This record gives sequence, C-alpha cells and structure tokens, in this order.
Amino acid sequence: MAAATGMVMLLAAALAILAPPARALDRSEFPPGFLFGAATSAYQVEGAYLEDGKGLSNWDVFTHTHSEGIADGRNGDVADDHYHRYMEDVDLMHNLGVNSYRFSISWARILPRGQLGGVNSAGIAFYDRLIDALLQKGIEPFVTLHHFDLPYELETRYGSWLGAGIREEFDYYADVCFQAFGDRVKFWTTFNEPNLFTKFAYMLGLYPPKHCSPPFGNCNNGNSQREPYVAAHNFLMSHAAAVDNYKKNYQAKQGGSIGIVISMKFYEPLTNATEDILAAQRALAFEIHWFLDPIFFGEYPKEMREMLLSDLPEFTPAEKRLLQNKVDFIGVNHYTAIYAKDCISSPCDLNTYEGNALVFATGERDGVQIGEPTALHGFYVVPEGVEEILRYVNQRYENPPIYVTENGYSQYSNNNMEDMINDVGRVNYLQGYLSCISSAIRGGAKVRGYFVWSLMDNFEWRYGFTVRFGLYHVDFTTQQRTAKMSAKWYRDLLMGNGPMDEVRTLRSNS
Ligand code: BGC
Repeated sequence: MAAATGMVMLLAAALAILAPPARALDRSEFPPGFLFGAATSAYQVEGAYLEDGKGLSNWDVFTHTHSEGIADGRNGDVADDHYHRYMEDVDLMHNLGVNSYRFSISWARILPRGQLGGVNSAGIAFYDRLIDALLQKGIEPFVTLHHFDLPYELETRYGSWLGAGIREEFDYYADVCFQAFGDRVKFWTTFNEPNLFTKFAYMLGLYPPKHCSPPFGNCNNGNSQREPYVAAHNFLMSHAAAVDNYKKNYQAKQGGSIGIVISMKFYEPLTNATEDILAAQRALAFEIHWFLDPIFFGEYPKEMREMLLSDLPEFTPAEKRLLQNKVDFIGVNHYTAIYAKDCISSPCDLNTYEGNALVFATGERDGVQIGEPTALHGFYVVPEGVEEILRYVNQRYENPPIYVTENGYSQYSNNNMEDMINDVGRVNYLQGYLSCISSAIRGGAKVRGYFVWSLMDNFEWRYGFTVRFGLYHVDFTTQQRTAKMSAKWYRDLLMGNGPMDEVRTLRSNS
C-alpha cells in the first residue's frame, strides 16, 4: 500500500515536471458548429482483411510481399480489429466528446474487384452500421473515399493510378458510396494526400506499387521523373469526375459537401539567400500548388512547368471544363514545418520527399533544430507552422472553407505502459497547434473543423507498429484500448472542464 502511494506520488511529481504550462485554451475560441474530431483510415485500423467478401487491397499484398519495406515487418491484417470493435470505438469517441469522426472507406470491401465483380453487400452493411452508430451518438461522419488503399486487382490492371482507366473505376466507386451512404454523410473527401501518395508510390518507391528510378531510388520498375505526374493527373481527373457527379446528381437532394485532403508541410528557407527563398517557394509549389492550382485555377503551377517540361501532363479543354466544379472545402493535413535548402546552386541527395523540387529539407539550422523532434523522421513540433500554412492557403486560394483533417504527434512505441500513457509531448503538441489554429481563425482563416490524428494507435504504414499516434493506447495483443493523458486533455477541452484539470488535481495532491 505504502509502495503504491509512493508510486502515485512519484508519478504525480513526474507529471508536475513534465506537464505543459497551464495556458488556457478554450472551446469558445472556435466558431459555433466547429467540428472537433479524431481521424483514422481503413487499412490502418480495420483489420478483417479477408472477411465478409472483402477483396485484397494493394496494401494487403504489399505488406505480405514486401515486409522488408515495413519497419517491423508487420501488416494491417488485424490492426485495431476495428471492423469487429467499431461499437466500442464509437463509445470511445462519445466519451471523448468529439462531434465528428473522420474515417475512410475500404474500396476493396465495397468493390472487391472494382467495377467488374459487383458490389459487396456485406461491405456496404459494415459502413451502414458504423455510420448509424455514429449518428446515434451525435457524431458526424466525415468520410474519405480513398486513403492510400484500393482493390489489388486495379493495381494489376492499371498500375493503380498510372492508367487512365482508373478514373472510371473511381467514379463508379464514388457513385456507389454517394448512393449508399449519402443520405447520412454530409462531409465527403475524394482523396487523402494524393500529393504524398504519388511521391511515395511512384517517385521514392516506398508505397505500393513500389515504382522508382535513380536518382530518386532503385526499384525494379518505374520512372521517377515522369510517373508521379501521370499518376497525379489521374488522381486530379478522378477527383474532378467524382465532384462533378456529386454536384450534379446528389448534392441538392442530400445536402452534403465535398472536398479533397492535401498533405501540407510548411517550408521555411534555410537561410535568407535568394536561392533558399526560391527553394522554399518551389517546395510549396511541388507540395500544395501541384494539386490545388489545377483544382482552383485549372493549371499546374509555373514552377513545376518550368522544371518538368513535357514530363508534366497538359490539361485538355475537356479536362479543364471538368475541373471547373469547385470543391466546397479543402482538407489540410499538417504535422510539421521544415527548412528548405536549394539543390540547384549546390548539389544534394535527391532521394528524398522534396528531391523532385531540387530542394533538400532539413530540421537543423546552425546546429539548432526547428522544433522538438518526434518519432517520425523529419517531423518536428513547430506550432506556428500551422498558422503559416493556413494563412498561406487562405491567401492563395481566396479564403476557402478549411478543415484541418489531420494533425498529431508520434511517440516511439515501447512496452512501458506508463510511458506510453503519460504522453505529455502529445498534450503540448495539441495545445500548441490548436492555439495557433485559433489565432489563424482570428486572423480571418475560415477553419471549420479539426481532427486529431489519430483516435487510437494503429498501423503506421512503413513504420508498422513501431510508432504510436493515438489519443488511445492500443495493446495489439489484447486489443485493449486505454485513454492516454492526451485523450483526457482533449476531452476536458471539448467538455469545457478547463484543460488538464486531472493533471492539476494530481499535482495539488502531491
Ligand atoms: C496520413 C496518415 C498517417 C499520418 C502520420 C498522413 O500522411 O494520412 O495515414 O498515419 O500522416 O504519418
């Protein structure tokens, strides 16, 4: 007993040192109707990879055939077993106090073979049950149609996004979803981070179908100078067709909205030399303008055209017409800011995420890091970065409605449960980023919602289960979910209890 009390006191003392400075952040700083949520994606949480008629996806096959590309060699066969435990997970969300849940639909669960094989009614039934359970608890479903996974058959048939045939496949899939779920889903996004996905899949060869070529990487297949832009073009036109269909055939009667989610790092010039200033602009063009300029202005950015010449496709007049349908909002996934160094004036390693922009990204300037590093290589804690990016998007695309669809903090996974649960780093991160988002809103950005990545620890793509992003800890042997300190902090913010009341109580009792 004495030992137990001692432990509690020790823990309380540790928390007192580690806990974030009590800086007030209040829900009332955010506009009425603001969506506060948490996010996941199908492959990362669902598991049940071969159940109830689901077809194999590109990730099912990739993780089994290329386990060397995943840090711990593991896969999402079971992941969080969310397919069977979704009711328990909806309860977690309810207890958290979120009013929205961002999740993605597994294309291979709905159309195991794409258009060819017909709709899998058990797949539709699963998402029906999930959506109904959410709505019953007052939680808005915020649905992504494609979050990196698609039926494996389409990968073999079209090289996933390389063949133009994928456009019709996506259009068909999106239509099945609008028809089946659109009576209840008011927030749709076509794609999650197609800008990141095309680079990882077709430039660096890190994601399926694992294509790349020197100097960007060494793969058995691919052409890193050309394929990412062909794939991106097909993503953009698939997006445009789905938006067109939604606007023409569903929006008026279903009353929902549709957007796209783009990954957005903020790039700061490494030095104030003109070369680095231009490098930062190029990095932003290759990250953000690549997708949003065609969607908003009908053209690829000039920085890309000047560098890529004919490797960058042209939009035909018909494609331009289709692009004229405007998105209702932009989804911003933001995790980090980083310095941009020019690689034109002095050569550097191009086998990196920014290599195609001839930019080298680094977290260090004169030996000082841009922010506290996290468990993901190249991801630092720089809360002001989110304000910069929101201001930037706001100016360039004329004040569009924005949802921050992902923002979160990774910790290295270990078996010390206390260490995992007392995630002070995440609390600091969320508090800092939300404060800066609230400041961006005061500055005029139309931010309408915010989603923490992630609701719970899950399969983190090439990092497997070696890092954890969740508000809830998941024991992947027992599937037990446990609230971390950050879940309690978020709940306190959402319930208006004042941040970190529990931590303060612990502290005052010590
Ligand atoms: C993706 C998520 C991923 C997260 C953290 C985003 O790029 O959309 O699926 O888990 O970042 O790496």
